[in-house]
Amino acid sequence: MPSRGSRFSLDEFRHEALSEVGSTNSECLARARAGDFGLLWITASRQLAGRGRRGRAWTSEPGNLYASLLLIDPAPPERLASLPLAVAVAVHAAIRAVLPPGGDPVEVKWPNDILIGRRKTCGILLEGEGLPDGRRALVIGIGINIRHMPQDVPYGVTRLADHGFGASPEEVFAHLFREMADVLKVWDEGRGMTEISRRWRAVACGIGEKITVNLSDRSLVGTFAGIDDKGFLMLDTGHGEILPIAAGDVFFDRTE
Ligand code: BTN
Repeated sequence: MPSRGSRFSLDEFRHEALSEVGSTNSECLARARAGDFGLLWITASRQLAGRGRRGRAWTSEPGNLYASLLLIDPAPPERLASLPLAVAVAVHAAIRAVLPPGGDPVEVKWPNDILIGRRKTCGILLEGEGLPDGRRALVIGIGINIRHMPQDVPYGVTRLADHGFGASPEEVFAHLFREMADVLKVWDEGRGMTEISRRWRAVACGIGEKITVNLSDRSLVGTFAGIDDKGFLMLDTGHGEILPIAAGDVFFDRTE
């Protein structure tokens, strides 16, 4: 009988490197529709239609990392909310591993942006789709700024090249490939959420700070009180209530 978590063993993961593609997330979803059984990484040197969160475009020139991981039925629906935090822990470790020690802090902003010196250096987009055969595809798309960064965005941005990293997207991906397998094994289809939450908190920024959370239809202001056991952000509104928030964009009042 396989041991718990063995589904995410390193040697179960495959990787296909493409030169140019519309979006590595779309490519993974197309593979899922065609019957792929998951644990497939697709990377591309360049994306022609890279997607960001909330329908935004993700500019994707050669020199940065564009990578997506296809998972099929990764966990029961009630345990899936913790996956974004696990992903953040893995991507954080990969970025930390390629930077020289002693620079600006590398931190996670809820749920899974990676910041260096409080500036965004990586975006993560999780997309799911039900397949005709009843399986559920989930794609983890990761874009890491290495040589380029967007110009016209309403938040601070940075790139690894400005923090002492002079190597290639392939080198960052090699770390990401290993770290993701390790962390997904610990996550264990959501059963390892306690350990994932502990690791996430150890690298998170802004807990205890005043924040604004932009939801799709309104903005909320309060104190970032931490995360609950599902991975939801807990916002202390200051009126004696703590609101759990499943999805939104966080802005720190002191820097953004
Ligand atoms: C964000 O808006 O912060 C998320 C950006 C996610 C971009 C990555 S790049 C690889 C993958 N393919 C896409 O089309 N998007 C994701």
